[in-house]
Amino acid sequence: MPQNSFINLDGQSFELPTIVGSENEKAIDIAKLRDLTGYVTFDPGYKNSGATKSAITFLDGEEGILRYRGYSIEELADKSTFLEVSYLLFYGELPTLDQLNSFENKIKQETISNENLKKIADAIPSSVHPMSEIASLVGLMSAFHSMDEDGDDEINMLRLMATLPIMATWNYKKCVGQNANLPDTSMDYCSTFLQMMFAKPGEDFKGDPVVSKALNKLLILHADHEQNCSTSTVRLVGSSQANVFASISAGIQALSGPLHGGANQEVIEMLEAIKSDGEDTEKYIAMAKDKASGFRLMGFGHRVYKNFDPRAKIIKKAADDVLKALGVNDPVLLIAQHLEEAALHDDYFVARKLYPNVDFYSGIIYRALGIPTNMFTVMFAIGRLPGWLAQWKELKTNKEPIGRPRQIYTGYTSRPFVEIANR
Ligand code: CMC
Repeated sequence: MPQNSFINLDGQSFELPTIVGSENEKAIDIAKLRDLTGYVTFDPGYKNSGATKSAITFLDGEEGILRYRGYSIEELADKSTFLEVSYLLFYGELPTLDQLNSFENKIKQETISNENLKKIADAIPSSVHPMSEIASLVGLMSAFHSMDEDGDDEINMLRLMATLPIMATWNYKKCVGQNANLPDTSMDYCSTFLQMMFAKPGEDFKGDPVVSKALNKLLILHADHEQNCSTSTVRLVGSSQANVFASISAGIQALSGPLHGGANQEVIEMLEAIKSDGEDTEKYIAMAKDKASGFRLMGFGHRVYKNFDPRAKIIKKAADDVLKALGVNDPVLLIAQHLEEAALHDDYFVARKLYPNVDFYSGIIYRALGIPTNMFTVMFAIGRLPGWLAQWKELKTNKEPIGRPRQIYTGYTSRPFVEIANR
């Protein structure tokens, strides 16, 4: 039974309701706090603040639990496909075979690329980071696709699912100086992406089931992660009733930062730097502990996981399996393993509960699949897209109010204007 909480301020006691979630997560409902007391709460980085009620993803950072719509990430990563998980996130239930086929076909119908958008993509210099490119192109999609008048953006959600991987392949082909491939929609979602990436002109692309399976697994692991930085961005932008393209474009930009999705690129760059520096892992552990160095062990630590990141556990095993299956011997895998071993036995990391996160080993798999380093975060974005869309849809369905935090002002109090001649 939810209980009420009491807060004493300025000699008065105020009663506030509490909320209990379906996994017994407890919150004090402060919606009326300012009206009642004149106070707001102060929580930089939202470390203690729930911004919404959501029925999509549950995670328990202490226990290392992650579930989409009640299904464990371990089972989904092992038994499901990325499109099946996307359906689950969108609609709340696993699809029947008919529902899945229909979902897949609707996405396939949206793979007809927009030539005007392609022309814009071609005009973007290949020196531009692919995350900036896809964020811009996604934002521009609103110019080419009209919004549904009754606010049903279903078709645009499917359009985004179809188009984001295509945009990623346009960027890759431009960077390697090849013509873009048209999608072969006789294949499944992940295989079509790989065909558009890697098929050479005139070549009969067969694809490798090991690669498609590994990609499915990686995308499933990234598909949602409740109210993380980019998802909160999508919800915040969406709360102003900005369209789905603007909201997802903003999410992509938020994901690009090195503390968020951008960490997977940084991890490989860090591992490469350690390799060229004589593989001295101890030196980098020492640097990460020295705050003055400004260096952090990338792929380590998490705001919510304080025991282990269940996604990292799955990815570490997958990295081993995929490299073996593909016969790839990547020396940075060994460096990563040494680094992890050293950090897990170091008091600094133990005391702060810093463990490898989802980004620590994912880059090693992407690299084995042939994905270039600057596209690692793009892969994260392709994986996170269904989560962003499901959260955006939930925000709309729940008719959530516009997001607008308060602040504690610390600037000057009122002062008179000084004429320019007197400054
Ligand atoms: N290397 C060294 N020290 C670290 C690290 C790290 N990677 N991460 C946190 N710390 C220290 C930090 O300096 C602080 O120490 P102290 O208490 O002495 O001041 C303590 O641990 C707590 O760190 P925090 O920065 O207050 O924690 P946070 O919850 O605000 O940040 C984080 C979480 C993920 C941004 C952070 O751990 C980090 O910067 N990690 C490296 C970047 C990274 O791998 N990001 C990917 C996150 S997972 C994928 C995703 O969802 O985006």
